[in-house]
Amino acid sequence: MSGELKIRALEDTDLNGVTQLDEKIGGEYRPDVWEHRITYYQRRDPEAPVVAEADGKVVGFMFGEVRSGEFGLEEPTGWIEVMGVDPDYRGQAIGRKLAEHILEHFRRRGAATVRTLVDEGAEEIAGFFTALGFEPAGLRPFARRL
Ligand SMILES: CC(C)(COP(=O)(O)OP(=O)(O)OC[C@H]1O[C@@H](n2cnc3c(N)ncnc32)[C@H](O)[C@@H]1OP(=O)(O)O)[C@@H](O)C(=O)NCCC(=O)NCCS
Repeated sequence: MSGELKIRALEDTDLNGVTQLDEKIGGEYRPDVWEHRITYYQRRDPEAPVVAEADGKVVGFMFGEVRSGEFGLEEPTGWIEVMGVDPDYRGQAIGRKLAEHILEHFRRRGAATVRTLVDEGAEEIAGFFTALGFEPAGLRPFARRL
């Protein structure tokens, strides 16, 4: 990273940047998916979703929101739902800074807990959340094929 890192609220104009970053991470170009998601998060709570900008482009994002009254959890809970950091910019605390911003916002919105779900095989994501102080929670995911 040659320039300054900026963590800021997601804007409409980030659609291209987020779509390109997602393609770099996952190998799939999904503009429709991201247009839908960006609209969703901005309508729900425009201050919650954050992006990291460096060298004139989006190099990270973290989207989530505060919800309550779901899964038997009545208390307001911050949920981190989707995130990604550019592989060329990892290991520079960008993920941590994105999390600090969204967690601070969750606190301001009255949440006392933040939750996320991590696939059992996703060791890197589990390692990231563990480093940030997350611990396995007493919720069991259930699923069945349709
Ligand atoms: C997980 C991810 C967000 C980490 O981003 P990052 O900017 O490299 O992370 P940071 O540099 O802020 O690291 C923060 C902490 O997490 C730890 N960490 C980061 N990546 C890790 C990994 N792969 N394994 C173990 N720990 C890890 C770091 O060691 C650091 O701990 P420390 O502060 O105690 O040293 C990034 O690797 C990523 O985007 N992965 C793909 C995400 C994905 O698949 N998203 C789709 C599903 S939502």
